[in-house]
Amino acid sequence: MKPLNVVILAAGKGTRMYSSKPKVLHTLAGLSLVQHVLNSAAQLLPQNIVVIYGHGGDAVPLSLQATNAQFVLQEPQLGTGHAVQQAMPHLSDGSQTLVLYGDVPLIQHTTLHKMQQAGSGLILLTVNMENPSGYGRIVRDAQHNVTCIVEEKDASDEIKLIQEVNTGILLAPTLQLKKWLSALRTNNNQGEYYLTDIVGMAVADGIPVQTVQPTHEWEIHGINNKSQLAVLERTWQQVEAHRLLLQGVTLADPARLDVRGKLVCGRDVEIDVGCIFEESVTLGNNVQIGAYCIIKNSTIADGTKVAPYSHIDSSIVGDKCLIGPYARLRPGTRLHADVHVGNFVEIKNSEIAQASKANHLSYIGDTTMGRRVNVGAGTITCNYDGANKFRTIIEDDVFIGSDTQLVAPVTISRGSTIGAGSTITRNTPPDELTLSRSKQMTINGWQRPKKK
Ligand code: UD1
Ligand code: CA
Repeated sequence: MKPLNVVILAAGKGTRMYSSKPKVLHTLAGLSLVQHVLNSAAQLLPQNIVVIYGHGGDAVPLSLQATNAQFVLQEPQLGTGHAVQQAMPHLSDGSQTLVLYGDVPLIQHTTLHKMQQAGSGLILLTVNMENPSGYGRIVRDAQHNVTCIVEEKDASDEIKLIQEVNTGILLAPTLQLKKWLSALRTNNNQGEYYLTDIVGMAVADGIPVQTVQPTHEWEIHGINNKSQLAVLERTWQQVEAHRLLLQGVTLADPARLDVRGKLVCGRDVEIDVGCIFEESVTLGNNVQIGAYCIIKNSTIADGTKVAPYSHIDSSIVGDKCLIGPYARLRPGTRLHADVHVGNFVEIKNSEIAQASKANHLSYIGDTTMGRRVNVGAGTITCNYDGANKFRTIIEDDVFIGSDTQLVAPVTISRGSTIGAGSTITRNTPPDELTLSRSKQMTINGWQRPKKK
């Protein structure tokens, strides 16, 4: 196969989005529209990817900084043919050029691969539509060979009846493409350079024109407004949900799941309604996720149960833990096996060893906690003096009474017991009871004030 060059057209303003953001930077399933296209293109291992941008200043190139795409500004925008012309200096003569659209986000690399397999001529991606209005029509001769594409605005009533439409996506031999692009004229009803005019030129040059259909129709749906964006988001989430169901994941309701990244599940995973998974999330075997949890960039090991309304971000959770309801694991949390984290407990940048528990209303930050520790309700680590952060070390088998403040840096030695209501500012000795609490007293005969 010849090397591949990819051109992604992304110069459109997206007037109908009513947004100050360029259209292709709106997100679907957590990624910008153009990033989806770039990811599909990258799977074909192309020689290069050229993004044609226009509106929004440098916003499009900046958003794709991490990729090795090249960027060309198209200013003014004189049509799809003019857009591809801007990429010509970056295209190598011996290659094939694939034209994609930054606002057609769900094109799959499998479909693009089918186009590559179809031959070395001009390959058009087409679909048959019940209602083809608005699209360019694929015109064929009596032998069913493609002869040209006619845009809706230039079409006769007879041509408007054709249901095979141009998706816009095409693959062309680059050397010929350059020649055809140079010959484009604007003698049409929109006064634009039409990329589609290269089809007639290919026919005239005796270059075979072939058509390929996408595996799924949603792959070629373009986004022009927020309504189409919302519909395509739901379509994609349904695809993701059914992929998970067919792998054996139990979803309480496939219509109430949002995967904004990559979700990998082991066997017998159960996910209740309303959960959102962001970036890369891995759930081990027999993991249960309760309703309305948000889990981002985290790994949860076998047999762990996450109760409803928990929020887990950039954390690693071990086997058989019990998390939530209403728990919050912030970045840098590492829980070993059998750890319990209950309601309104926040943990940040902390490691908690096996079988330790913080079941109610706590803040554990910048802490290293040993095994079998019991953290009483309302305990907090005071890790921040307003300028710097300090670590708290809690060794194995510590018991911390309720409503305790541990002022870091501090070490609670193994086997320590801390009396409830203490403020601990110095290291504690092992296996002893330590408490800091004023003595309880009673004032005999004291009278409550009475209303005058
Ligand atoms: C185009 C096709 C039409 C096809 C339809 C599918 C042409 C002439 N027509 O029509 O056959 O059925 O797509 O949706 O190609 N763009 C630029 N720079 C420009 C013009 C457009 O980057 O100067 C980008 C737009 O941002 C958009 C895409 O190219 O993402 C398509 O442009 P648009 O004007 O929407 O083309 P259509 O008229 O829909
Ligand atoms: Ca369009």
